[in-house]
Amino acid sequence: MKISETIKSVRELVNAARNAGKRIGFVPTMGALHIGHISLIETAVKQCDFVVVSIFVNPTQFGIGEDFQKYPRPLETDLEICKKAGVDVVFAPSIKEMYPNENLTWVNVEKVTESLCGKSRPSHFRGVATVCAKLFNIVAPDFAYFGQKDAQQAVVIRQMVYDLNLPVEIVVCPTVREKDGLAVSSRNQYLSRQHKKDAALIYKSLQKCRQMILAGETDVSVIIDCISKVLNQSLAIEIEYISVVDAQTLQNLTKISGKILAAIAVKIGSTRLIDNILVDTSE
Ligand code: PAF
Repeated sequence: MKISETIKSVRELVNAARNAGKRIGFVPTMGALHIGHISLIETAVKQCDFVVVSIFVNPTQFGIGEDFQKYPRPLETDLEICKKAGVDVVFAPSIKEMYPNENLTWVNVEKVTESLCGKSRPSHFRGVATVCAKLFNIVAPDFAYFGQKDAQQAVVIRQMVYDLNLPVEIVVCPTVREKDGLAVSSRNQYLSRQHKKDAALIYKSLQKCRQMILAGETDVSVIIDCISKVLNQSLAIEIEYISVVDAQTLQNLTKISGKILAAIAVKIGSTRLIDNILVDTSE
């Protein structure tokens, strides 16, 4: 496995692989790799001939007061994980390499960035879309892998790729969960033992939501009430939003129909957690 810290060297490595007829898979990450990332990497390794993983804690997607400084950066462990998973190149650039000067060009994806997490993190998706556009231009992958856990991010990236005609196929992989259902996230390590127990209510509430929809409930306000009751079983959970939206447009629904996304953001202590489920009622 090669480790590349510069744009020039990762481009050379990918070009050589492409010239050898290899299909290039790309998994963009901010490091602190866990089984969720490993499942993305494993899928990429299965579907492609040459896999690049980027490890870059992107400053432009963190808002003021968010956890950019304290975001975990266990680079050595991350490299071991990548090597074991069969990654060909880890691209781990410095901030200077990615943003050598003040960045004046931004990718703003409209509408789908306004609901859900976009409300409390107004510049977050601009930072995500911009860094992904840069990384896609640097790595030039055939396939790029994202997790369903960050459902809105996946929708935003798909929209950007579609609107800008970027020659990459976006693959969205299922959320990986711990035994109690908690969606695996790099931020779970901030949680105390008790808070981790409380956090299991998030998926429990989403499962309840799925059951209600499958049993025929179509009134979104009834469903949201029920999710909120489950979450309120813990005094430690502070609800940021509970939303039931169209899975493609991310617009709020009042009645369930078609493919819906039920998404939640909460704070437990100072840790912000998100999770979601997709339910297709047209099936
Ligand atoms: O999902 C993430 O870890 C980040 O948002 C991404 C896609 C690597 C962009 O920095």
